[in-house]
Amino acid sequence: MAASSSSDPVESHYASRSLVDTVLAAVDAAGLPPGLLKASDLAPLDQFHVRGLQATKELAALAGIDSGSRVLDVGSGVGGPARHLAEWFGCEVVGIDLTEEYCRVAEALTVRAGLADKVTFKAANALALPFKNGSFDVVWTQHVAMNIKDRPRLYGEMHRVLKPGGWLALYDAMAIDGKEPIYPVPWARDPSTSFLVTADALRAVLNKTGFAIRTWRDVSEESRQWFAAQKPPAQPPKLGLHLLMGADFRIMAGNFGRNVAEGRVGLLMAVAEKN
Ligand SMILES: C[S@@+](CC[C@H](N)C(=O)[O-])C[C@H]1O[C@@H](n2cnc3c(N)ncnc32)[C@H](O)[C@@H]1O
Repeated sequence: MAASSSSDPVESHYASRSLVDTVLAAVDAAGLPPGLLKASDLAPLDQFHVRGLQATKELAALAGIDSGSRVLDVGSGVGGPARHLAEWFGCEVVGIDLTEEYCRVAEALTVRAGLADKVTFKAANALALPFKNGSFDVVWTQHVAMNIKDRPRLYGEMHRVLKPGGWLALYDAMAIDGKEPIYPVPWARDPSTSFLVTADALRAVLNKTGFAIRTWRDVSEESRQWFAAQKPPAQPPKLGLHLLMGADFRIMAGNFGRNVAEGRVGLLMAVAEKN
């Protein structure tokens, strides 16, 4: 891949070249119906987290979203979860992501899905959310915090932009006390951009920020089973995360599975209410 023009090592990790044409060509080559794309059509490419669309559906069932909700997806990637929420609930979703190129891909796919009136994207850092206090009913985030060291500021920003009584729905990889992940993993090539915390540390920072925990679900075991059931295809699939991350995504995903199987990394879904 060509070198990225971004100076942010996290952004360079996720996109080191332009991706919109590549992704749209792959969507066409996959022979998807010419009409409006559904969340399930794009899921192999746009649900960038363990257990894909199934995990998004599970978190959505916990998150208290309805058609009147205004949802912020922090670290929205190429927009699969945001489109799924709009498609299922008919709600408005705003996605922000550090990686500008992912926002461009997200916008292009959202037009193809016919959801551009409900779902919008903006390049921004989760540590400085470009929204007024109390702008959202739900803040949603999946597999993003692992790249973010300053957790008090991250959850402080999420708390600030939520309305009083609003909900934070999160799905993240967790550190396990005393265990080191094997690298590279999908979120980092080495420890310099990986900032996992333990579930206990996460609970403490959420409480300190002013959240009351409503749901706390360790989903490590179902994640382990999902990884174990993955059969690496002989050829890369027509749609897949390798289109974003390059051919060695396979190695990164394999290491993530190994980390979960060996108890080096856990997975957690949680919902917390703004006090
Ligand atoms: C593994 S992907 C997950 C994408 C999406 N949440 C999903 O589940 O499909 C991680 C995303 O987090 C974004 N990210 C990492 N650090 C960020 C930050 N400080 N602010 C905003 N986005 C960030 C990356 O650019 C990337 O798109």
